[in-house]
Amino acid sequence: MHPVNTAPFGVAVIGCGNISNQYLRNLARFPDVAVLACADLDAERAKAQAAAYGVPAWGSPADALAHPGVQLVVNLTIPAAHAEVTRAAIAAGKHVWSEKPLTLDLAAGRDLLSAAQAAGVRVGCAPDTVLGAGLQSARRLIDAGGIGTPLTALTLLQGPGPQAWHPDPEFLFAPGAGPLFDLGPYYLSVLAVLFGPALRVAATGRRPRESRVIGSGPRAGAEFAVAVPTYVAALAEYAAGQAASLLFSWDSPLIRHGFVEITGTEATLAVPDPNRFDGDLRVRRAGDDDWTVLPAVGAAAGRGSGVVDMVRAIRAGGPHRASGELALHVLEMMTAIERSALSGEFEPVETRFAVPEPLDPQWDPYVAAS
Ligand SMILES: NC(=O)c1ccc[n+]([C@@H]2O[C@H](COP(=O)([O-])OP(=O)(O)OC[C@H]3O[C@@H](n4cnc5c(N)ncnc54)[C@H](O)[C@@H]3O)[C@@H](O)[C@H]2O)c1
Repeated sequence: MHPVNTAPFGVAVIGCGNISNQYLRNLARFPDVAVLACADLDAERAKAQAAAYGVPAWGSPADALAHPGVQLVVNLTIPAAHAEVTRAAIAAGKHVWSEKPLTLDLAAGRDLLSAAQAAGVRVGCAPDTVLGAGLQSARRLIDAGGIGTPLTALTLLQGPGPQAWHPDPEFLFAPGAGPLFDLGPYYLSVLAVLFGPALRVAATGRRPRESRVIGSGPRAGAEFAVAVPTYVAALAEYAAGQAASLLFSWDSPLIRHGFVEITGTEATLAVPDPNRFDGDLRVRRAGDDDWTVLPAVGAAAGRGSGVVDMVRAIRAGGPHRASGELALHVLEMMTAIERSALSGEFEPVETRFAVPEPLDPQWDPYVAAS
């Protein structure tokens, strides 16, 4: 007899701010995992989130890492703290799922992946929207030849920026964020999953306003500095031959987001919003007067799906899909885009990753893996 370990995988959430609500709500419903501890530099936040989501322990990040049942850390801290928190978790022998971006710079990202490999633990990274029904259906359609050979992509993300709704938006205008680093991972990860690795990028960047004003919450009205470009227009060329044009802007009053179109030799495919797990596909062939709508098939369970895929992969001994290597490549693209906006030159992209296998349409994080 070979007993199979089906006990829920012990998880600690470090960073109990805004996005922890989505994670804690979902992780509590996924039977393959059990959140055992909430931690934050701000102990009151950890305590409040533990109480709100029925998590049995709360404390400091060190307390969470010392918890004997914790096998995996979900790092939901601000981007500037990602490297430090992930490094500490790896050193404590824990697997890590990190919110995006993986780190602020490429060297720190590489260090984390080497440290994880040496320690025999895994790193996974958001966005796990690439596992959602919408993007998985797009992947299956393209793999089945539904648009012919994929040639190009056009992505648009524009709006006034998150200072209006986020109660603590400063980090979103600091290194590691701006529209490129905050939302670029969604768009660049979709293209990475559909096209594979990029070879080089070029870009233009602008920072029209040096400060912004918080629009909601207890600190509404406070002014803060903008440290990064809030308009970035980029070109990317992929190793498999495709080209992409991407726009990331927080300088427009006109909101347009979730726009990802892939054009192939036979048709253009409008992919659902890469910041969502669901959404229909729309296809337009030469001669069509309108789009053909194709419903997405598969799970759209939300943030935390990547944690479940990772836990199942650890148990099965196979690769997890939203991997640290994929996130490192996306990070390298963003840092190269940032450099190109300053240099005016194409910048090379050198990291590589294994393109993740599509998910089975039956994949379901709500049902325990047997
Ligand atoms: N808010 C969103 O809608 C959203 C959506 C997707 C992804 N994300 C990502 O999630 C992460 C967190 O975003 P947020 O909006 O929840 O931020 P937030 O500022 O609301 O919360 C971050 C929390 O991390 C804590 N923290 C900071 N440094 C820490 C450290 N060293 N150790 C432990 N705790 C620490 C803070 O005290 C705070 O409670 C970011 O990487 C962001 O890009 C946010």
